[in-house]
Amino acid sequence: MKNPLLFLQRFNSVRFRITLWYAAALAVTLTLFSLLVYNSLAKSLDENMDQLLAYRAEGVADALETYLETERIEVGRHSAAAAKGGAFYKIAPELVRLHTEDPKQTSIALRILDAAGNELQSSSGSSGAPELPGRTIKDALRGSAAYDTIKVDEQEGTGSTYRSYATPVAGTAGTAYIVQAYRSTYITQFALKNLRVMMGTLVPLIVLLTGAFGMFFASVALRPVADMARTIRQITAESLSLRLKPPATRDETRELADLFNAMLARLEDSFLSERRFIQDVSHELKTPLTILKGELEVALKKARTTGEYAAILQSNLEETEKMSKIVGDLLTLARFDNREVRLEHARVDLGELLKRTAESLAGVAQKAGVAVELSPAGGVEADGDAGQLGRLFLNLLDNAVKYSPAGGRVCVSVYLEGARPAVKISDTGAGIPAADLPHIFKRFYRADAARSSGGFGLGLAIAKSIAEAHGAEIKAESAPGRGSAFTVIFPKT
Ligand SMILES: Nc1ncnc2c1ncn2[C@@H]1O[C@H](COP(=O)(O)OP(=O)(O)O)[C@@H](O)[C@H]1O
Ligand SMILES: [Mg+2]
Repeated sequence: MKNPLLFLQRFNSVRFRITLWYAAALAVTLTLFSLLVYNSLAKSLDENMDQLLAYRAEGVADALETYLETERIEVGRHSAAAAKGGAFYKIAPELVRLHTEDPKQTSIALRILDAAGNELQSSSGSSGAPELPGRTIKDALRGSAAYDTIKVDEQEGTGSTYRSYATPVAGTAGTAYIVQAYRSTYITQFALKNLRVMMGTLVPLIVLLTGAFGMFFASVALRPVADMARTIRQITAESLSLRLKPPATRDETRELADLFNAMLARLEDSFLSERRFIQDVSHELKTPLTILKGELEVALKKARTTGEYAAILQSNLEETEKMSKIVGDLLTLARFDNREVRLEHARVDLGELLKRTAESLAGVAQKAGVAVELSPAGGVEADGDAGQLGRLFLNLLDNAVKYSPAGGRVCVSVYLEGARPAVKISDTGAGIPAADLPHIFKRFYRADAARSSGGFGLGLAIAKSIAEAHGAEIKAESAPGRGSAFTVIFPKT
C-alpha cells in the first residue's frame, strides 16, 4: 500500500461500514441463537437424566417395599433388622440386576443402602460410588427423595461428577433402606462441550464468510457510484457538457445520476448564458465606442470650424447617450437580479397609468404614423409600484409602436382575467417569428438583428424583471405578418 491514506479510506468507505454493521448484527443474532439452543439442550438433557434416575430408583424402591410388606405379613413379628440376615439378601441382588441389565441403561448404576447410609447391595460392585451427602440421608429418613450432584475424586486430579437420586424405602419402623440411582454426567458434559466448541468456531466463521460476501455484494452495488465519481472528477468549467452515464439499473444510483445530469444541464445553461451575456455587453458597447473614437480622431487630424466641432460633439453626445442607456439598463437588471429594487406598494389604477404612458408616447406614435387606441376601462387596480409599472408598459408600448409600420394600430385594453387584473397591448405589426418567440425576453435578444431598430434588446428583459418583482405573469403571442400581443396578468388583489 503506497498511500496509507488510501488504505484508511477503504475502512471509511460506505461499503466497509455496511459490511461491518451487517456482520455485527449477524454475530449478535447468531450468538443469541446459539446460547438459546445450547441452554435448552443442556436443560432438556438434565431433565431427561433426572427422570431416568428417578424411574430406576423408584422401581426398585417400590419392589422392595412390596417385598417387605409381604414378608411382614407372612412372618408376623419379623422386624426390618431381622430381615437383614433373611430373605432380603436373596431378593436385593435380583432386583438390582433386573433393573440394570437393560443394555441401553447400563450407564445407570443402582445401590441399596441401609438407613445409616452403608452400602448393602450395589450393581457395579466397584468402589468409587458417589457417597450420599448427610443432608440427603436425613431427608430419606424423613421420607423424602432428593437429587444430588456429587463429585468423586478418584485418583489424583482425575475426578468425575455423578448425578444421583436417592429415595427411601419404608419399613415397619420408618425408613428401612435407601435406594440410590446414579450416573456419570460425563457423556452429557462431553456432548455439551463438543457443542460449545463447534458453536465457538462456527459462529465466527459464518460471520467472517458472510462479511466477505457482504463486502463483495456491497462493492458490486456501489460500483456505479465509483464510476460516477470518476466522471465527476473530470468535470470542470471547460467541460460542463460532460454527462454521467446513468447505470442500467432503476435504483437510487440511477436517480442520483439523473438528478446530477439535470443539475449539470442547468449549470451549463447558466454558465453559457453568463458567457454570452458578457460577450453581448462587450459587443454592444464596442460599436458606439469605435464610432466615438473614430470621430474624435478625425476631429483631431486638423483644425476645424466651430460648426464642424459642434456637429462632431453632437454625434459624440448621441453615442455617449446610447452607451449610457445600455449601462443604465444593465444596472437596472442587475439590481432586479440582486433583489435590490425596493418596490413601493400602492393601489395603482391601471387604466389611468396606461393612459398617461400612451400620452407620453403620443409624439413618437404620431411620427411613426401609428394610432394608439385605449379601450375605456375604469377601476381595474393592481398592487405595486406605479413608477416601475409605468416603465414596464412604456417598454411594451414602445415596441408596439416601433415594430408597427406606418398606418398600423396599437390597442391597449385593461380588464379582469377571472379575478386578476390584466393589461393587453396588441399591435398590427410584423409579428415575431415562432422560432424567436421563446427568446425575446432574454437579454440582448433581438428577433431580427438586421432590422436594426435602434434598440439593444434589453427592453423586454427589464419588462419581465419588473413583472416578476410584482408577482405578475408576462407573455407574448404573435401571428407573423399580422401582429403581436403582450399580456401582463397581475396576481389577485
Ligand atoms: N410588438 C412587437 N412586434 C414585433 N416584434 C417585437 C415586438 N416587441 C418585441 N419584439 C421583438 O423582440 C425583440 C426584443 O424586444 P426588446 O427587448 O424590447 O428589444 P428592442 O426593442 O431593444 O429591440 C425585439 O428586437 C423585436 O424583435
Ligand atoms: Mg424595446
